[in-house]
Amino acid sequence: YMNITSLDQMIHDTVAKYLKKQLIVAGNWKMNMTVQEGMNFLEKIGNTDANVIIFPPYTTLALLAGEMRKRGIHYGPQNFHFLDKGAYTGEISIPMIRELGCGFLLAGHSERRQYYNETDDILQKKVVKGVSSGFQVVLCIGENLEERKSGKWRNRLAEQMILDLKDLGHHELDSVLIAYEPVWAIGTGVSASIEEIEETHCFLKAFMRKIFGRELPILYGGSVNENNALKIGACSVVDGFLIGGASLDPDKFLKIIEISKRV
Ligand code: PGA
Repeated sequence: YMNITSLDQMIHDTVAKYLKKQLIVAGNWKMNMTVQEGMNFLEKIGNTDANVIIFPPYTTLALLAGEMRKRGIHYGPQNFHFLDKGAYTGEISIPMIRELGCGFLLAGHSERRQYYNETDDILQKKVVKGVSSGFQVVLCIGENLEERKSGKWRNRLAEQMILDLKDLGHHELDSVLIAYEPVWAIGTGVSASIEEIEETHCFLKAFMRKIFGRELPILYGGSVNENNALKIGACSVVDGFLIGGASLDPDKFLKIIEISKRV
């Protein structure tokens, strides 16, 4: 049996664990960072017990995987193919990614959708492949400026979630995280307002409850930096960040990691 003090302690720890929101801090390096630059970056970050994920370019990913693992940083590629192998010049596959010890996959970033014609049809195949292969998939969705202004953003986001996540079972949804990234806020230096973020994440969570019978974690992305992270992260419907520009600067990224442990 347990004495009262240790039982008290146990309840205290359990409650604390559930109340404490450990935000996820994901960095998308895009087409930046050589291996040497990445090495310098990781040296500055040091070891971490926060929820940090980095998506480096392939070459850097391959050579820094061990370094990231040693530091407690999760990692994965910015893109992947849904087939295991074949004549697909320039692509990389799940077995290649698995070999590097990756835990996460980024899918459907708006730059991939926009510049490389990644459709919802392709993404649906990628998500199924990634999840059934045992990875956590960060699926990016987002509306463009016109859709935001005309009020069609709800339809666009709902459409992306339905098309990209259809065919996933209840259990498989455990392995999906949504990154809400308004296209008009990416790389512009102007993030969505707190009100817009709250309204959108609330909409997404309600929609998920209706369609999937459950909520998935939602990261916010689009000009997150060391100055606005605290305010954005403090929203109860925000589960973390997906960061581009500010993830390239170790000082800024470290500040955001610190913030993620405080909110
Ligand atoms: P940004 O990029 O932080 O530079 O706006 C975000 C993203 O594209 O994931």
